[in-house]
This record gives sequence, structure tokens and C-alpha cells, in this order.
Amino acid sequence: MIKKDIRAGTGSGCYRGETGMKPNEHDIFRATLEQLPEGIIIVDADDEIIFVNRAAEEIRGVARDRILGRSVILCHPQKSHDRVRRALQFLREGRAGAFVRMVADTRRGKHYENTYAAIRDKRGNYIGSVVISRDVTERRRLEEEKAVYLQNLEQKVAQLTAGFEDMCVSAMTSLVNALEAKDPYTKGHSLRVSETASRMAEHVYGVSPEAREVQLAGMLHDIGKVGLRESVLHKPGRLTPEEFEHVKEHPVIGERILLPIERFRGVAKLARHHHERFDGMGYPDGLKGKEIPEGARILAIADSYDAMTSDRPYRGPMEPERAAEEIKKNLGSQFDPEWGRVFLELFYSGTVG
Ligand SMILES: [Fe+2]
Repeated sequence: MIKKDIRAGTGSGCYRGETGMKPNEHDIFRATLEQLPEGIIIVDADDEIIFVNRAAEEIRGVARDRILGRSVILCHPQKSHDRVRRALQFLREGRAGAFVRMVADTRRGKHYENTYAAIRDKRGNYIGSVVISRDVTERRRLEEEKAVYLQNLEQKVAQLTAGFEDMCVSAMTSLVNALEAKDPYTKGHSLRVSETASRMAEHVYGVSPEAREVQLAGMLHDIGKVGLRESVLHKPGRLTPEEFEHVKEHPVIGERILLPIERFRGVAKLARHHHERFDGMGYPDGLKGKEIPEGARILAIADSYDAMTSDRPYRGPMEPERAAEEIKKNLGSQFDPEWGRVFLELFYSGTVG
């Protein structure tokens, strides 16, 4: 049991009140607890309520005279008895010095943070428990406001990021269009590759991030050609071996252009590898089979088909059926056989080409 009579103070020079009697420590402690803005309820070792301050009366909506001297367990609704008993046992056994529960008073729109703490004497014997209730309604309101603010901010950032990414895509696409506009033989090449490759990817993956990436990579795969010498890029005849080596630099240049933009990380990789061959004889890295990124294996087919069926200064365009036959002939050597079969299925059903 908590010792209810606390030793009276004996110092001099203290305020002695209207009665002329110096208030004892017990009165001072009691008055202090009474005046705290937090609700305070103290129970003794027998779970009997021995103290309730004004704030606790207010928070709990109950007059202290009705609950003082009663078991704290019985002051709760029947369905909560076991839970309260367990909490008191938890404190009595000293498994934790204190614990905190958030409680909502939905009727009054209030939120409280209740701290439950065991009270022990100098030897560590359990002599009671205290519940301190703090009104955290305002704090919660601010936290909720902050959460809504952060959510709006995230949405705003996402919108701005998407806007910026769209701008980057538009800028890069314009660059590709400008590059192709200079050369009647390559005009529209990237757009056609993008359409064919994305149809292939969508046939397998559906409308998906993979297909979207392949579509974008199709548009930008040859962007590295902006780094090539004009005289080589627009040469009307066949290229010399040295000139061909120069042209072979465009996948690496393309990767270098795209890589600094976060949104183009994946696309940059596909641009680098769109001239790899399934048998490892391609460039720039001579990757083989499934070492080649899947998107690049798709692009290689769409790119070659479009190159074959396009007009060139040194040869006319190949018939679509013949170009499809060429792809069929080179499955497993130049092209991924699985993706090649996807292309052929779409070609013969009139979906691409
Ligand atoms: Fe290329």
C-alpha cells in the first residue's frame, strides 16, 4: 500500500496558509498532482483507486467521488476487465517500467496518450501504479496536417518528375527527328523500329513497363549518330572499313548521351547493345545469347527488318517477305530465335511490317 500520510515539513520561512499551519509535504504533493494539466490516476497494490485529479475527471468524464476507493478493474466495462487485469499484472511483475497507449475519445474528438507506470518503494517492491493521460489532440492534428502536406508534396514531385521526363523524351525525340530529317534514307527509321519493337514486346508482356521501355529505346537507339562525322553519316556510297569502324561507335555514344538522365538508364543500355548478335559476333561488346539485354535482342530484329526494307543510296529496298525470310534464316546466329519467332508470327499475321 502507498503510505498515505507523508511526514510533515519542519522548515521555517514557508507560507503557512490561512490557518497559520505550514502545509505538509503530503498536501504539497497532492496539490501539485491536482493542478497538473495531465490526468493522473493512482491505484495501490490492491488495484484500488486512491487518487484522481481534476484533469483525469475531465478526461474520463467521471466524478472522482464515484470511483475513489473502488477497484480500477471494476471501473472499466465488463469486456475490458481481463485486459486491465493483464496490464496491471504486467506492471506488477516489472516486465517494463512503463508503457504507453494511444486512446481516442471519438465522441468528443479527443486523443490521449496514456502512460502506465509501476510505482515501487526503495526496495523495488510494487506499491501501485499511475496512469498519466496527456491530451495529444492538437499534436495529432498537426501530425495529420503534416502527413497530408507530405502526401501532396510527393504528388507534386511525382508530377514535376513526370513532366521533366516527358520533356526529356520530347527533347531527345526531336534530336532524333532532326538527325533523320537530314537524310531521306533514314527518315522515320526510329519511329518504325519503335513501333515494331513495342508491338513485339506487347505481344509477350502486354502493355507493361518492359514494352514501354522498348518503345522508347526504339525511338532513341540511334541517337549516338549525332556524334558521327557528317561526311560518313551522309555518304552516298558504300563505307570504307575505317568509316564503318567509325559508324560502329554510335551505340556507345548513344549510351553516353542517355545515361546521365535517370529516366533513360534502361534505355541507354538497350542503345548500347542494339547491334550485338545472338552468336556473339556483334558490337560493341560481343555479348552472346541471353547476355544481351532482352530489349536489345528485340530491337536488333526490328532494326534489321527496317534497314532491309528501306531504300539506300547504293541499293533499293528489299521486299518485306524477303526481309522476313532473311530474319528466319538468321535465327540463332544474328537474332534471338524466340524473339525472331515472335516477329515472324506478327509479320505473317500482318501486325508488323
Ligand atoms: Fe544503330
